[in-house]
Amino acid sequence: MVFSSLFDNAQQPRHQSAYKLASAISTESSQPQPCDFGSRFSLHYITRWLWPLLVLNLFLVSDGLAEDAGNLYNTNFDINAGRSYFEKQCSRCHGFDARGNDEVGAPNLTGRLTRASSSAGIYTILREGISGTAMMAVDPQVPDSQLWQLAAYIESLSRESASIAVRGSAEVGRALFNEVGECLDCHMLNGKGGRLGPDLSNIGSDLSPDELTLALIDPSEKVAPRWWSLTLEDKNGVSRSGLRMNEDSFSVRIMDADSQLWSYPRSALRRVVRSEESTMPSYAARFSDTQIDDLVAFLYSLRPETTP
Ligand code: HEC
Ligand code: HEC
Repeated sequence: MVFSSLFDNAQQPRHQSAYKLASAISTESSQPQPCDFGSRFSLHYITRWLWPLLVLNLFLVSDGLAEDAGNLYNTNFDINAGRSYFEKQCSRCHGFDARGNDEVGAPNLTGRLTRASSSAGIYTILREGISGTAMMAVDPQVPDSQLWQLAAYIESLSRESASIAVRGSAEVGRALFNEVGECLDCHMLNGKGGRLGPDLSNIGSDLSPDELTLALIDPSEKVAPRWWSLTLEDKNGVSRSGLRMNEDSFSVRIMDADSQLWSYPRSALRRVVRSEESTMPSYAARFSDTQIDDLVAFLYSLRPETTP
């Protein structure tokens, strides 16, 4: 807990004089407001997006590291493009679902591959073929970008098949999520739910099953700054907590647990205390291990590719 005036900026205060303690604005309205910035700029995203760029940089300096470079064509758009190319060019041997074909000897591509362990390895197979087998090199006219998209698609298959290996039942997890857990009070799923936590619509492609389990049993373990909260104490000693909406030199705005927005001029505040704890309760005691596994299976199934 630290006193702070976080992220001060030079913005001119618009409502400096309006000391409205209860400037409660209902956020129940259907106005869609992007509020998942926290999750987008979380450490996870930084590692996910900056790391390949960093590697690319090294790659430009020394191409000896090519095999280690991350695939920069791995957005959902690329994966979908890779899939449609696969269905046209590769499915006659590997099968429409990429699960292989014994007659042709084309292996299942949805698990761990025997001849490649990275996108770069898959790329090489596609460019060069596997000599002495039916696996021929792809037409040299096909641009590199398309092969990286294919590689991204194939890699996405092993992530999807990993979801099958998750212990719990996604169906049971879905029911827990919708009926028991109050998860939707705080989280959005495909446009429905609350704003007091990150949007979970694609959480399965952002967090692994282990990370999801941790998020449920020990929410405060890792909390992105977007989800830190502030406790404001006014000059009368009355305090109120909420998620930090924005701050400038003259005012502080928060959203409380009922999703109400509150605006305080700094001059009216005695103390501002920041907490880096999660506002999400731990579900370790609330759910059995099996139920946690079920919730994780459900959350892990939430991906852009599989959400209708
Ligand atoms: C004519 C049939 C055929 C076509 C078409 C074909 N493959 Fe293959 N592919 C094979 C066979 C057979 C192997 C196994 C070669 C070996 O390892 O002995 C293979 C192996 C592979 C492997 C290595 C698998 C591993 O476990 O390491 C990858 C990756 C692969 N193919 C991707 C593709 C992609 C992507 C396409 C479409 C551009 C494609 N293949 C088109 C027959 C085919
Ligand atoms: C009181 C509001 C609240 C409730 C209820 C709540 N959460 Fe959360 N949840 C949050 C907040 C805030 C965060 C972000 C801070 C953190 O990482 O703990 C979060 C984070 C998460 C994360 C990690 C997301 C990420 O991007 O890292 C998952 C997964 C999650 N919640 C699932 C659930 C599930 C499942 C339930 C219901 C069983 C639930 N939450 C109930 C507020 C809530």
